[in-house]
Amino acid sequence: MSDNNSTTWDITPHTKAKHEILKRYLGAWFPILSKWEGRLIYLDGFAGPGVYTGGELGSPVIALQTAVNHVLLPRLKEITFLFIERDKARAQKLSQVLKEHFPTLPTNIKYSVYDAEFAPTFEQGLNELEKQGANLAPTFAFLDPFGFSGLPMKLIGRLLKCDKCEVLVTFMTGFVRRFHDELRESALNELFATDEWKKIREISAPDESEKFLLQLYESQLKKLGGAKYIRSFGLIGQSNQTIYYLVFATKHLRGLELMKDAMWKVDRTGSFKFSDITGFNQSFLMDYENQPTWVPNAANAVYRKFKGQTVKDSEVYRFIIAETPFPKRKIILSYLEKNSPPKIINVMRPGKSLRGFPDGCLITFSK
Ligand SMILES: C[S@@+](CC[C@H](N)C(=O)[O-])C[C@H]1O[C@@H](n2cnc3c(N)ncnc32)[C@H](O)[C@@H]1O
Repeated sequence: MSDNNSTTWDITPHTKAKHEILKRYLGAWFPILSKWEGRLIYLDGFAGPGVYTGGELGSPVIALQTAVNHVLLPRLKEITFLFIERDKARAQKLSQVLKEHFPTLPTNIKYSVYDAEFAPTFEQGLNELEKQGANLAPTFAFLDPFGFSGLPMKLIGRLLKCDKCEVLVTFMTGFVRRFHDELRESALNELFATDEWKKIREISAPDESEKFLLQLYESQLKKLGGAKYIRSFGLIGQSNQTIYYLVFATKHLRGLELMKDAMWKVDRTGSFKFSDITGFNQSFLMDYENQPTWVPNAANAVYRKFKGQTVKDSEVYRFIIAETPFPKRKIILSYLEKNSPPKIINVMRPGKSLRGFPDGCLITFSK
C-alpha cells in the first residue's frame, strides 16, 4: 500500500486480485445492462493515479479498457466513466495516463476526472438529480479508499436505492479493528451509519471482531440501501491477516451470479479469499479438472435443501447463487442425477428436450 504521500505506489498481489475481479465483472455487466438501459455510469470514487510504480494499470484504466476492448463494444450503450480523486497530483497523473491510453474514444464511451472529495461531490450530483426529479442511470460504483474515512454509509445507501445501482466497496476491517479509539468515533459512525460498531471493544478474539464488523457493515448496506444480495471477498496480506474485504451489494440475483463468478475465478476454493502468501498459482490449479473437487459439496448442499421435493430449475439456481458459496453450474445437477443411487430421480423437460436440464425444467429429488 502507499505511504499516502507519493503520487504512485507499488502494486501488491491482492490489488491485482481486486483488479481481476473488477475486470471480469465489468466485462459481463456492460453488455448485460446495455441490453436494457439507455445509459450506464461507472463511478470510481477513489480513483487513484491510474498507474502503479511498476507501470501496472490502475482501476480507471482497467475499467475503460474493459469497455473499449470489449468484443461487443458496438452494441454497448453510452457509458460514462466518472473518476473522483482527492489528491491533486494523483488526479493530474490520472488525467495524463488516461490521455496516453485513450487518445481517442469510441463515441459511446466518455469519461471525466474530478479532482475532488468523493462524498460531497457525489452527494451534490445526487441532490441535483433529485431536484430535477430525475433518476440516476444504472451505476456501478467502485469505492476503494485507503482507510475508512470519507465513505459515509448513508451516501452508499442513497446510491443503492436506485434500482439498477450496485457497489463494490473496499471495507477496511483491518484498520477498523486497530483504530477504533475515541478520536475516530465520528468517522466510524459515518462509515456504519450507526454506533453499534462500538461493541467491537468488547470482543477480544481477532476472528470474532472481524466477523462482527463485516456482518454489521453488510447488514447496514441491506438496511439503508435495500441491497438484497451481498457477497464479500477477503484480501489477505503478507502477515496472513485480512487487510480488507471487497463487499459487493446489489438488488439483482443476476448481478450476484456474475460477481460470484468473477470472485470464483480468482479463488476457486470457494473460500472467497485471496492471500498474498499463496498468490494466484494455487487458486488457478483447479481450472483444469473435468469435475472440480467442489462439485460434490455443492451437490450435497442442493440435495439437503430439496430432498423429497419437486422444484423448478430456477429455484435450485436461486438457492445455489444466493445461499451457497458455489457458482451456478449444471454439472451440480448432473452429479446428483448420476449419483448411485440417484439423488435426482425425475426431470420434466419443456418442449422437445430429452435430456439434461433445459431452462424451465421441473426437478424431482429423491427422499
Ligand atoms: C486505494 S487508492 C485507489 C486505487 C485505485 N482504485 C486502483 O485500484 O487503482 C485510494 C485513492 O483514494 C484517494 N482518496 C482518499 N480519500 C479520498 C476522498 N475522500 N475522495 C476521493 N479520493 C480520495 C487517495 O488519494 C488514493 O489515490
